[in-house]
Amino acid sequence: MIKKIAVLGIGTMGNGIAMSFAMYGYDVNIHYHGAEAKLNAVKNIMRPSLELLVEENFMPAENIQATLDRIHLFTDLKKAVEDRDYVIENVPENLEIKQATFKQLDELCPAHTVLASNTSSLKLNDMMALVSEKRKPLMMINHWYNPPHLMPIAELSYFGNTPENVYKDVEVLYNSIKKQTVKVLKDLPGLVANRIQQGVAREAFSIIEQGIAAPEDVDKALKFGPAFRYATTGQMEVADFGGLDIWCTVGDNLLKAMDNSQCANKLLRQKVKEGKLGVKTGEGFYKYSSEEAPEIQKQFLKRLIHQLKASDYYVK
Ligand SMILES: NC(=O)c1ccc[n+]([C@@H]2O[C@H](COP(=O)([O-])OP(=O)(O)OC[C@H]3O[C@@H](n4cnc5c(N)ncnc54)[C@H](O)[C@@H]3O)[C@@H](O)[C@H]2O)c1
Repeated sequence: MIKKIAVLGIGTMGNGIAMSFAMYGYDVNIHYHGAEAKLNAVKNIMRPSLELLVEENFMPAENIQATLDRIHLFTDLKKAVEDRDYVIENVPENLEIKQATFKQLDELCPAHTVLASNTSSLKLNDMMALVSEKRKPLMMINHWYNPPHLMPIAELSYFGNTPENVYKDVEVLYNSIKKQTVKVLKDLPGLVANRIQQGVAREAFSIIEQGIAAPEDVDKALKFGPAFRYATTGQMEVADFGGLDIWCTVGDNLLKAMDNSQCANKLLRQKVKEGKLGVKTGEGFYKYSSEEAPEIQKQFLKRLIHQLKASDYYVK
């Protein structure tokens, strides 16, 4: 049974993942490879996210300090992982860094420790190239969505190298922090959710590039069309409700007229070249003034919290 957890990295994902486990009562060590001062600021970065959960009646106020108290900070990797049952890395999406990280973890962790990667696009088989044969059955991809403490999904690899009891232990761990787990059976980049998302994004960017609709109308079409239904009803269910014969006919008629490019959209690439990266630079598909950006981000988080509450995902 997994009780003691370590999280590597204090970027976008590391902080949120550590907080998610601690919110549900787990003892969590965080490791950061850089300066102690930056590591020590981590709890101050987490606090506003926890306060928003309280403000929205998603969890009781006393959970804030209790959550933060369960988190321990380390710059020494050995101390961070030497007594842990489960370690998840959130270091940059770079194969050499992931390989070196897992080699170190293999050497420093107890024999029973499960080692997980939150990679978005790398293959497990490549990432475990430098670990011992004994450790390989204890290595998995456990993929989160951003923001980790609000997105209720965890994709768990089950590629054939993982014994059933190890998978079960990890699944129980994720269910205990109220994540819906998706079992992924093949070691292919992007797992399941990112592949689906990229398929939607490719067509959405292409529609804008072709001038078929403006960004706000594409977003409306998604939010009040397919995505409105997808929040409660998956694609296979939607197809079954609509009738597979209809899906077959519409697929034959439509798919040949749609974007099937093998790389990122040209318009998207152009915006990146111009430094229009979205909220963080003040412009992407929309414009954001520096005064309104924090409030826009807060409203985005609030909408996710409301959705979680509507789905009965409270922290009790
Ligand atoms: N950002 C997302 O939306 C998202 C979603 C799901 C999965 N992921 C995956 O999670 C992982 C982390 O992504 P992120 O967005 O948190 O990245 P990030 O850049 O925000 O954070 C990376 C962390 O790794 C540390 N780091 C940098 N170089 C290092 C090194 N050589 N050794 C050890 N640590 C090092 C950084 O200091 C930082 O704390 C990636 O594999 C990414 O693909 C990201």
